[in-house]
Amino acid sequence: MAEKIVVCGIAGSLRAGSFNKMLLRAAGELAPAEMEIRPFGRMAEIPLYDADLEAKGAPEPVQALKRAVREAAAVLVCTPEYNWSVPGVLKNAIDWASRPPSETPFAGKPVALTGASPGAVGTARAQQHLRLVLASNGALVLPGPEVLVARCQEKFDASGKLADEATRRYLARLLEALAAAARRNLTTGR
Ligand code: FNR
Repeated sequence: MAEKIVVCGIAGSLRAGSFNKMLLRAAGELAPAEMEIRPFGRMAEIPLYDADLEAKGAPEPVQALKRAVREAAAVLVCTPEYNWSVPGVLKNAIDWASRPPSETPFAGKPVALTGASPGAVGTARAQQHLRLVLASNGALVLPGPEVLVARCQEKFDASGKLADEATRRYLARLLEALAAAARRNLTTGR
């Protein structure tokens, strides 16, 4: 059997009814058999970045995030778009994880991006900005396939399941690409 690929799943929204949390759950269903997506569940506990706080030692939830990313073979980010960019909650968490720069767990890590929005462009602008942020951490952000879940309120059913067949296919392809990138990384020992 192929080696298990553990993926750290990060949702960029805190709210309970988040479409992006639903998208992350859908990814768990659609992942290739050898992939296990472990949602990081402590985003709400990460304080605002403060260098004075950092000087006393990274808060425990930050350490937990760094550990979860470090121990995973790859990362999947499901993010909303706020004001055409990355939500502060997600950017703040990445800022914390990036410290100190020599220890960012994103370095050399394959990362897949996706996102859901009720709007027409399905988080395209947020994903573009997130690419840049993660590139500064040395992450290997997959160039595609792009999965932009636009008009997301029409794509999930009342139980929160991703019901749109085309979106399910695109998401499955993205996860296949992430599995391939993680396998290459495991083989080359990056
Ligand atoms: C938004 N929303 C939004 N949507 C979008 O497509 N482009 C945008 O620039 C913004 N900007 C924005 C700013 C702020 C402060 C909020 C609160 C919301 C709408 C957003 O996509 C919508 O609330 C999603 O449902 C948020 O994702 P979750 O929480 O459902 O995962």
